[in-house]
Amino acid sequence: MTKPRDRLRIAVQKSGRLSDSSQDLLARCGLKFRQSRDKLFCFGESLPVDLLLVRDDDIPGLIAQGVCELGIVGRNVASEQSLDAQSKGETPEFVEIRELGFGRCRLSIAIPQEDAFETAADLAGLRIATSYPQLLGEYLRTHGVDAKIVVLNGSVEIAPRLGTADAICDLVQSGGTLVANQLRETAVLLDSQAVLIGSRTDFADERADLRELLLRRIDGVIRVRESKLVMLKVSRAQLSAVIGLLPKSDTPGISSFEGSSDLLSVHAVCHDSITWQHLEDLKKAGAMQMLVLPVEKMLA
Ligand code: PRP
Ligand code: ZN
Repeated sequence: MTKPRDRLRIAVQKSGRLSDSSQDLLARCGLKFRQSRDKLFCFGESLPVDLLLVRDDDIPGLIAQGVCELGIVGRNVASEQSLDAQSKGETPEFVEIRELGFGRCRLSIAIPQEDAFETAADLAGLRIATSYPQLLGEYLRTHGVDAKIVVLNGSVEIAPRLGTADAICDLVQSGGTLVANQLRETAVLLDSQAVLIGSRTDFADERADLRELLLRRIDGVIRVRESKLVMLKVSRAQLSAVIGLLPKSDTPGISSFEGSSDLLSVHAVCHDSITWQHLEDLKKAGAMQMLVLPVEKMLA
């Protein structure tokens, strides 16, 4: 048993694809930290929640060791490390708690542009460079393909040009890195995004409540990010057609105007993005004077 603690620690990537969005999410949850961003440890001022800025690959391990209670990593890192634990006959000491909706990318196999590829079987006998040996190994096993996994910790994309591998298995976001290295994406192994991970164990101290509080706020931030308040006017006859076109809306509020029996004002929170096309469709259905507003905070 570890000593009771009255502060929660959350680990995020110090610098890389997830750092800014991770810190932004925590700021939106009302967390403020005393130390500057280039320090490893940041003391939480607004709540007893401290921040650790570390390498993303170290985050699952820090949770497993009980150094931190929560962490934000790419699913690629979390999946690779849980497979790694399983391959040693261990149960991973961390679990995925929430999808966070940012840092979307995929783990894919890519081959030189001029090489042929139709099915996974075409990878047989190739040397594939990757930093994700577990995920790649699982993919190859599932497809019954015998290929050689070359483990590299960085600069995976130049391995084919250097002649140290025939293909790679790496993260693809925009695809820019692949194009720059004359590679093309063939198979997608994993769709990834930032996820909140946490220790498998429950806490018998203050940390249990802090964790709940933080999760509630994170859920609020995620919902708000995907929510818009839509306001419009419509005649009574066209009301139901217009309401039917509001994407993922809560029950709309409807009010009438003084002195007008026909014109109604509608406001609804929609849990989806509102595109120009949505507005065009609403207009055709009879909506007038439409306004789409961002939602700042939300608490159910
Ligand atoms: C990944 C990957 C590629 C690049 C792909 O590296 O290794 O180099 O991103 O992105 P693109 O498709 O937008 O060009 P990352 O920046 O995550 O660094 P790391 O793998 O060393 O942590
Ligand atoms: Zn990394």
